Amino acid sequence: MNFIVFLLFFFVSINFVQSDSASTPTPFPLDPEAGLQTPGIIKRWGYPVEIHEALTEDGYILTMHRIPYGLHDGLTHNARRPVVFLQHGLEASSSNWISNLPTLSMGYLLADAGFDVWMGNVRGNLYSLNHTKYSVSSHEFWKFTWDEMQQYDLTAMINTALKATNHKSLYYVGHSQGTLIMFSKLAEDPTFASKIRKFFALAPVGTVAHIQGLLEVIAKDFYDGFEIMYKLFGEDQFLPDDAFMKAMLKLFCEESAQEEQTCANLLFIISGPSTGQMNATRVPVFLSDEPGGTSTMNIIHWSQYNFYFFLCSVL
Ligand SMILES: *[C@@H]1O[C@H](CO)[C@@H](O)[C@H](O)[C@H]1NC(C)=O
Ligand SMILES: *[C@@H]1O[C@H](CO)[C@@H](O)[C@H](O)[C@H]1NC(C)=O
Repeated sequence: MNFIVFLLFFFVSINFVQSDSASTPTPFPLDPEAGLQTPGIIKRWGYPVEIHEALTEDGYILTMHRIPYGLHDGLTHNARRPVVFLQHGLEASSSNWISNLPTLSMGYLLADAGFDVWMGNVRGNLYSLNHTKYSVSSHEFWKFTWDEMQQYDLTAMINTALKATNHKSLYYVGHSQGTLIMFSKLAEDPTFASKIRKFFALAPVGTVAHIQGLLEVIAKDFYDGFEIMYKLFGEDQFLPDDAFMKAMLKLFCEESAQEEQTCANLLFIISGPSTGQMNATRVPVFLSDEPGGTSTMNIIHWSQYNFYFFLCSVL
């Protein structure tokens, strides 16, 4: 779901940029954070940031980002703080927690509330592309789905955070796929629960069988079997084919090219009505790390779970 929203932001922002440059000679200045990665953005706001690596049992080297203390929590830097672990969703990354302003981003807010904030990155996203044996250009590297993320990535990242902080348990906040993998983990290994003080599930995924509306319509028109999906998106890293993406863009945005608003509104058909809370000038910052990256196998696994979800993530 995340991915479709971000792609639509992308389409919408292209539209904005195009119409802007046609009507006004000077485009609005790009945010200095656009293009900076998670540690760069955190540093820019003056918060401390650390980079930690977690080695999974099957050889993936995952990067975690940490804000060890906040700027306004009233504690000394080395005071003992509870640990909160933030886990992003499908095609996303640690930057999701810090890409808005410090007064609006969960990462900074929790740090300022006195937490030691750890942000995970699962295998295959832009921060977790290293393996002890396989290169990212090998097939072997991309043979994983969210099942391996729950089996290996969560264990490695959470154990590393607990060891580094000398804590026995932590607070876990998952978003979307970040909730799915924790639900699966706790079902597979109930003893893991002793490491989780409390699990906060944002946009929790237990099933996606009940998605309706626009996506249901698209599903009926576009479903053509998984074979073609492999052809369109490659067998390894999930990289939607350029022609396919252009067709989507055409489908959604071109017919209404005279009124970019229609394309912008599509975002809200899918993600809900505008609440006036999206900061449009920051879209390039929100998009810097999107899509975060995953394997085609993972997308297919999601789609076996429910085909509509597949469409959400593809679009
Ligand atoms: C991957 O490993 C190489 C070599 O060890 C290192 O230079 C690079 O920073 C690593 N990348 C990530 C994303 O950890
Ligand atoms: C939107 O973001 C810009 C910086 O990217 C900031 O200056 C502005 O205050 C933000 N607006 C709101 C309403 O948060």
